[in-house]
Amino acid sequence: MRQKILVTGGAGYIGSHTCVELLAADYDVVVVDNFSNSKPAALDRIAQISGRSVLWHEGDLRDRALLQRVFSQYAFAGVLHCAGLKAIAEAQREPLRYYQHNLEASLTLLDAMAAHDVRRMVFSSSATVYGEGARVPYREEAPLAPNTVYGRSKMMVEDVLHDLVQSDPSWHIGILRYFNPVGAHPSGLIGEDARGSVNNLMPHLCQVAIGKRAELPIFGHDYPTPDGTGVRDYLHVMDVAEGHVKTLQYLATESGLLTLNLGTGRGYSVLEVVRAFERASGKRVPSRYVPRRQGDLASYYADATRASSVLGWHAKRDLSEMCADAWRWQSNNPDGYI
Ligand code: NAD
Ligand code: UD1
Repeated sequence: MRQKILVTGGAGYIGSHTCVELLAADYDVVVVDNFSNSKPAALDRIAQISGRSVLWHEGDLRDRALLQRVFSQYAFAGVLHCAGLKAIAEAQREPLRYYQHNLEASLTLLDAMAAHDVRRMVFSSSATVYGEGARVPYREEAPLAPNTVYGRSKMMVEDVLHDLVQSDPSWHIGILRYFNPVGAHPSGLIGEDARGSVNNLMPHLCQVAIGKRAELPIFGHDYPTPDGTGVRDYLHVMDVAEGHVKTLQYLATESGLLTLNLGTGRGYSVLEVVRAFERASGKRVPSRYVPRRQGDLASYYADATRASSVLGWHAKRDLSEMCADAWRWQSNNPDGYI
């Protein structure tokens, strides 16, 4: 009998790639997603890649009756909690909605888990919880001081998880702080289906290369970095997916709280990413310097040694692979999932 794992937000970018890795590791997968930022088509593509389907339920995590039904129907061995909202600027405009979908949804999910004695969870957090003051490279024990609503919503869930484990050490909780996940499954069948206004670098590059946008705005070239543009720790989404499976497996026997950075441990500037993308895609990407984006930091990347020493996980795929896979997904699916 295979173990069953609930993946919240399993049709989304991180969730869909993680489902593929879970199926490959011989788990059964059940997805709950309200499709507010995704399409059921992603779940068909997962089946196409894996030769096995995920079961899924459409609905919102804040719906207690839905969670009651789902948790009664399946005996879950654990939960990967990837559902959430993630657009920084939108969160500043709509804090209540962000706290509802990120914090309230997590509380409702944890309640259902406790009621059904499911005590293993991996939570999708973000490097954005470190905020401005932390020393680079970021280590997990650095103080948290997020400077956005989105970042605070992630930190609040982390605090809840911390308090939960303090109160009852029989929980097995993993917090994964992703740096900048990019790329796509090498099949080109699943990837980041960026809808609405695209804010992040890689989807923006893809859209310029495919002709949907005229040029890439480069936000600032006067940062104290080697070429003046912002530096980030980009990592391949398949490495992120593998990190989830390894964390889940670790938590099968280890209780308490494990907090890990998922990053490569090295930063690339915007200009370095543009060049790597041009090489991988064979496309020229026109770009233009514009003023800094509000809230951006100059440079940060992970100290990824804890994930390596605790899980034996490290990011295996390099920047050229990230760009090639992002481009394969974009060029095979110019309009995303339709
Ligand atoms: P995504 O938007 O592609 O996926 C999130 C999924 O959750 C979507 O399918 C959406 O429909 C679903 N969802 C949202 N609110 C829900 C709710 N209340 N009930 C049920 N389903 C709901 O985002 P992603 O990039 O896959 O991110 C996954 C998680 O990782 C998020 O929590 C995000 O904050 C976090 N994260 C992402 C990144 C990144 O760069 N992608 C970086 C750090 C952290
Ligand atoms: C952003 C979020 C962060 C979130 C992360 C992953 C902000 C302030 N931060 O991080 O909280 O966890 O996404 O979802 O939004 N860039 C350009 N031109 C573009 C887009 C980006 O020059 O069109 C630059 C940025 O200035 C930055 C780098 O590219 O230096 C990466 O940007 P992005 O992909 O948006 O990620 P982050 O800013 O690191």
